[in-house]
Amino acid sequence: MITKTIRYELDQGIATLTFDEQGSPVNTMCQQWQADLDAVTAQVLQDRAAIRGLVLASAKSTFFAGADLKAVMRSTAADGPRVFAEIERIKRNFRTLETLGVPVVSCLNGSALGGGLELAFVGHHRIAVNNPKIQFGLPELTLGLIPGGGGVTKMTRLLGLEAAQPYILESRLFGPEEALKIGVVHELVDTPDALRPRALAFIEAAQGQPEACQQVWDRKGYRMPGGTAANPKIAGLLSVAPAVLRQKTRGLYPAPEAALAAMVEGSLVDFDTAMRIESRYLAGLMTSGVARNMVNTFFFNLNAIKGGHSRPKDVATYRPKKVGILGAGMMGSGIAYAQATRGIATVLKDVSLEAAHKGKAYTEKLTRRRVDKGQMTAQAQQDILDRITPTASAADLQGCELIIEAVFEQRELKAAVTREAEPMLAEGGFFASNTSTLPITGLAQASRDPKKFIGIHFFSPVDKMKLVEIIRGQDTDDETVARAYDYVQALGKLPIVVNDARGFYTSRTFGTFVMEGAAMLGEGIPAPVIENAALQAGMPVGPLAVLDETALSLSVHVLEQTRIDFQKEGRQYVATPGETLVERMVRQHQRPGRAGGGGFYDYPEGGRKQLWPELKTLFEKPGVEWDLQDLKDRLLYRQAVETARCLAEGVLTSVHDGNIGSIFGIGFPGWTGGALQFIYGMGQDAFERRCGELAARHGSGFALSDAVKAALRQHRPVY
Ligand SMILES: NC(=O)c1ccc[n+]([C@@H]2O[C@H](COP(=O)([O-])OP(=O)(O)OC[C@H]3O[C@@H](n4cnc5c(N)ncnc54)[C@H](O)[C@@H]3O)[C@@H](O)[C@H]2O)c1
Repeated sequence: MITKTIRYELDQGIATLTFDEQGSPVNTMCQQWQADLDAVTAQVLQDRAAIRGLVLASAKSTFFAGADLKAVMRSTAADGPRVFAEIERIKRNFRTLETLGVPVVSCLNGSALGGGLELAFVGHHRIAVNNPKIQFGLPELTLGLIPGGGGVTKMTRLLGLEAAQPYILESRLFGPEEALKIGVVHELVDTPDALRPRALAFIEAAQGQPEACQQVWDRKGYRMPGGTAANPKIAGLLSVAPAVLRQKTRGLYPAPEAALAAMVEGSLVDFDTAMRIESRYLAGLMTSGVARNMVNTFFFNLNAIKGGHSRPKDVATYRPKKVGILGAGMMGSGIAYAQATRGIATVLKDVSLEAAHKGKAYTEKLTRRRVDKGQMTAQAQQDILDRITPTASAADLQGCELIIEAVFEQRELKAAVTREAEPMLAEGGFFASNTSTLPITGLAQASRDPKKFIGIHFFSPVDKMKLVEIIRGQDTDDETVARAYDYVQALGKLPIVVNDARGFYTSRTFGTFVMEGAAMLGEGIPAPVIENAALQAGMPVGPLAVLDETALSLSVHVLEQTRIDFQKEGRQYVATPGETLVERMVRQHQRPGRAGGGGFYDYPEGGRKQLWPELKTLFEKPGVEWDLQDLKDRLLYRQAVETARCLAEGVLTSVHDGNIGSIFGIGFPGWTGGALQFIYGMGQDAFERRCGELAARHGSGFALSDAVKAALRQHRPVY
């Protein structure tokens, strides 16, 4: 029997189900597969008398990819009952196969994640190829879902309530060796060819052995490792677990809470009931807004970035070998680390050899920590350090395919170092600036070839921040954009591509967040209320705290520059209420930020930072009223509006760049799926309505022009 997604063969008593979705590089639990599984399971039941063993195998390079996520994108709250029925239908087939009374063997030739691993769990005996590239795990929570295809119930029954937590609640992925150790697989083989003979050997040995044809949790006398939730010791641990979880999710992410509930509730009931409990939770999540947002962005948008959707086509892949960095300060030394750990020969230049060495020492410091923890050998560390050549001489840059400048944020200095270093580039090389504020097109004027000049904007700290914003200047050519994209990917980071404009995408939108917070302070709202509103909305840090970190003085500096630039164009820049407040803090009250001794917060030596007590007397207005939901909305909507404007103005050219850029660059909350999915998730009409209300009360920062509305409509993703 051959269906569109499963081949079924019965030969000498061995029934083989080979998963092979036609026209797709991977197997998924699409509608067709669900129907095919029904048909194949019915056939197996018909053939039951002739079957001595069942083999599950894949014709793809991975075993099975998992759920059909496009279907998640299309479902709404009204689909709950249908989705529940679908999940139950798949699991009923799984259950039929694993309770046939014949040995079932899963042959894992490649990765099995999420639904893929849940399918593998149908096998009583699971054999995997011992290839470290193969990954197993239940990463559903990262997409706002739970492993509800049996994963929660089976993993918990296999490992126990405590040991299963990292695999379910933290989505921990693991390779074949770890899978063997924890019992997710039972046997490893060296090559895919060795899978079937071992499967047949197991089936042979299992004949007449009823236990070999049963899952561990179905065997007589099964006890959950460590005990169920009724065990007093476990119950003690579980009494704090929800609080710990809540602290992490802030109530914004329903999936971890549902997963924990399904684990605990499932431990107290029989297997079939536990399976039904997880189905219900999963159906609820699958039809909820948060899961759709997260699937949209952490699956589809991330894949678009990894798949190079914003990379110009028809340019050969560039693999960086030797890259120079000008400026061994905070950013330059971080970029050197990122390059050297990825095998790229790095020339790190500063004004003195001493300063350059200091920059290299940063890599020594970061790698030493890993050596000390046993995560890296001393030799590996040495190899990394050997890749960094500190220097004070531009001549050492000779032969670099790319040179990135990360010197002080001054136009003239940047122009000077560009002129000095460009002649050292290898034939066909290109030059980049890591500026966070200066327009690239202007900086490119100093270049001998503006086509080969581009912005590569890293975030601080470089070793932790995954996002890199690539800025295309007016003259930058496609080849240079593509090569910058390849360079960022070679560092294992996420590139977004934006067009040149003041503040590019991330700095500009980030600015609206912090300035909205500062504006609230100016309105008399207490600082702790503002900071907490941001945290409750899901931002990682409050706007005032972030302003302190990036320096209020820097914001004032940018403001001054903007005024000058406007003046040159014959216009006058009107500072926003937030900017006015920040300027007051710096000029009147000498509060430049954390590095300058204090800003909105005080930083007592050795103590915890505290909000500056003077904020109360200076800014709070007695009798001022606020609505917490309004404050939370203002902080998120303001950024979403700015992102939509960037889309309308062509600063952003795709939705995925906006979503990924906002989450990984600015800290826009993951539950929203990013600043544009925030809009599409709630629906454009609802967004426009709420913006109208906010604009009426809180100013033009929330106003949506017709062009912005049209751009949003035009880019709306369709699944
Ligand atoms: N700090 C951030 O968070 C951040 C984030 C993104 C981008 N940036 C941008 O990165 C650039 C560098 O920022 P930073 O924070 O690393 O600054 P920094 O002050 O820490 O480092 C600048 C370094 O440049 C060196 N330098 C000055 N003149 C030089 C020359 N002629 N040749 C070689 N080196 C020279 C200085 O000695 C110093 O070590 C700036 O353009 C900044 O806007 C900074």
